[in-house]
Amino acid sequence: MLHSALINVMVKAARHAGRSLKHDLGEVENLQVSLKGPANFVCRADRRAEEILYEDLARARPGYGFIGEEGGTREGADKTHTWIVDPLDGTTNFLHGIPQFAISIALRREDTVIAGVIYNPANDELYIAERGKGAFLNDQRLRVAGRRKLSDCVIACGLPHIGRGDHELSRAEMAELQNRVAGLRRFGAASLDMAFVAAGRLDGYWERNLQPWDMAAGQIMVREAGGIVSGIAGDDDPLVTRNVICGNEFVHAELVKILKPLGG
Ligand code: IPD
Ligand code: CA
Ligand code: CA
Repeated sequence: MLHSALINVMVKAARHAGRSLKHDLGEVENLQVSLKGPANFVCRADRRAEEILYEDLARARPGYGFIGEEGGTREGADKTHTWIVDPLDGTTNFLHGIPQFAISIALRREDTVIAGVIYNPANDELYIAERGKGAFLNDQRLRVAGRRKLSDCVIACGLPHIGRGDHELSRAEMAELQNRVAGLRRFGAASLDMAFVAAGRLDGYWERNLQPWDMAAGQIMVREAGGIVSGIAGDDDPLVTRNVICGNEFVHAELVKILKPLGG
């Protein structure tokens, strides 16, 4: 399938960094048995992947700014374009050899994300989206699921772990949702959670306390697949408020109705 030059640049970089992560995943599996575990190694794998992405993207589009989880913000001469990159989303999964992790690349022009690529090198699933041109998984056009009744829906969420987020609020959210849905899931890679919503595998997803690089590519993926993405308030920008709710218009509205009163 033919894609734009921009998407080709992003896909090439994602596949390049993906080869590095996939190679490192093999090593992580060997290190599981050591007492020290693979944590330091994973940290290096993460940085290596980000450097590959930075170099490839900077070579193809000199001057664009770059916001990466590992290396922070690198200003570019071109102030209108910024890459927003998570070189390894789903670090805990990766660390444990669980093949649910991804490279997430988004391009922002002014204040709008205009393209996104999410790539899981473990199963070679490649999601792409470009503004006004739709979302695709390995060249197949994506469409969010059509279910309207929450009781038929499978919904994913994020769960704050030790030292992170508001655990009490999280438990309150789960208690509300558990009673109303066909299934709750916690997969552990925000970018893929959103890609799964775009693909209609999940009916909806919400999470608090995310970072722009967790969501920027996912946001355009869901929107281009016909879904709605906002923060928990329902009409806010997730990249600003750092919370996210997404799904088709019915599921999105239902989730906002339930979650918003629990903690804005
Ligand atoms: C994390 C994952 C996870 C979410 C965390 C994120 P990381 O990103 O997306 O699903 O629950 O809040 O920080 O640290 O693996 O890049
Ligand atoms: Ca992340
Ligand atoms: Ca990360």
